[in-house]
Amino acid sequence: MTDAEYQSHDTGESSIEGQIGLDIGTANVVVAYNEDKNVKNLLQLNAFFTIPYSKVTKKTLQRDEALFFDKDEKHYILGTAAERFASTFDSNTRRPVASGLLNPQEAESIEVIRAIINQLVGTPSRRNKKICFSVPGTPMGNAHSTVYHESIIRMHLESMGYDPLSINEGMAVVLSELSATNFTGIGISLGGGMCNVCFSYLSVPVVTYSIQKGGDYIDVMVGRSVGEPPTKIKMIKEEGLDLSVEPADRIAYGFHIYYDELFTTLVQSLRQVLGSSDNVPRLGTPVPLVLSGGTVMPRGSREKFKKALDGVSLPVSVSDIIVAENPLYATAKGALVMAITEETDT
Ligand SMILES: Nc1ncnc2c1ncn2[C@@H]1O[C@H](COP(=O)(O)OP(=O)(O)OP(=O)(O)O)[C@@H](O)[C@H]1O
Ligand SMILES: [Mg+2]
Repeated sequence: MTDAEYQSHDTGESSIEGQIGLDIGTANVVVAYNEDKNVKNLLQLNAFFTIPYSKVTKKTLQRDEALFFDKDEKHYILGTAAERFASTFDSNTRRPVASGLLNPQEAESIEVIRAIINQLVGTPSRRNKKICFSVPGTPMGNAHSTVYHESIIRMHLESMGYDPLSINEGMAVVLSELSATNFTGIGISLGGGMCNVCFSYLSVPVVTYSIQKGGDYIDVMVGRSVGEPPTKIKMIKEEGLDLSVEPADRIAYGFHIYYDELFTTLVQSLRQVLGSSDNVPRLGTPVPLVLSGGTVMPRGSREKFKKALDGVSLPVSVSDIIVAENPLYATAKGALVMAITEETDT
């Protein structure tokens, strides 16, 4: 389908020995794999930026070791380099994934995603190596299907020579963090474009869904409230937002207000979905709830979420609210656990 010419990072053979967990998110693409019995990660921004083609620019990009491909008289700069170029041009990067799914507004989204995957994982060193990738749950109140998104990624991984399988993003969080309760509990990934929820009973994902609001929404709404661009708000947020202290300026007020709003929407969705599902088992004992994803990284997130949760009554009681050990990497780690289990079982 493509006449794109891949540059400096042609798909080489993967240096990863074992199985792979892959998390394709709105903000980041993350890989998890085992090396010397430790889980290792790779991360690339899920973003691109185009500039007009020229031979000089091409040489510069190659020297810079930027990830890019050329198409239609344009250089498509990908990942972290895209952000660097965008800020040089005082502009914003574009996103191949929006609100958790392939971005229908960007014609090149598939090619961009493929190029980022190729660079991160490479072709497998042996045929049919397992790779498990995360997919979002069906968004609440949005008939949008996740089938197209999932199939495009599956087909690409197959064409690279992998044996792919998918896992729900919330379920991946459960596999990563809840081995102590035999994978019973609620896993929530709060990312850039969405929040993914899974209620798992003994490793069976009995309820899964998503809401299409996350960190990006906070950036946009706070930006709108104070008259600043979302990229600036995002930077301030990531550089050390602390939700455990009282807000001292109008941007900090904005963060508190929209974090509260996001958490309220999330816990109300939990009440609504778990409350109306026939699948939730009647449990005598409370279950843990894990929070993961970049959006729970600020200090004080857990306490803010707890306050919101205390305001609703769920059909299951929650024993403990846990923040994942590495919120940005938990989904990929859970996908890796799945890939390893599947390959060992067969
Ligand atoms: N230190 C930080 N403090 C606050 N927010 C952060 C921090 N680091 C990252 N984020 C935010 O986390 C979000 C990205 O998180 P994550 O990588 O989990 O999302 P994603 O998986 O790419 O997206 P999604 O799951 O919604 O498709 C962004 O909104 C980003 O601004
Ligand atoms: Mg995610």
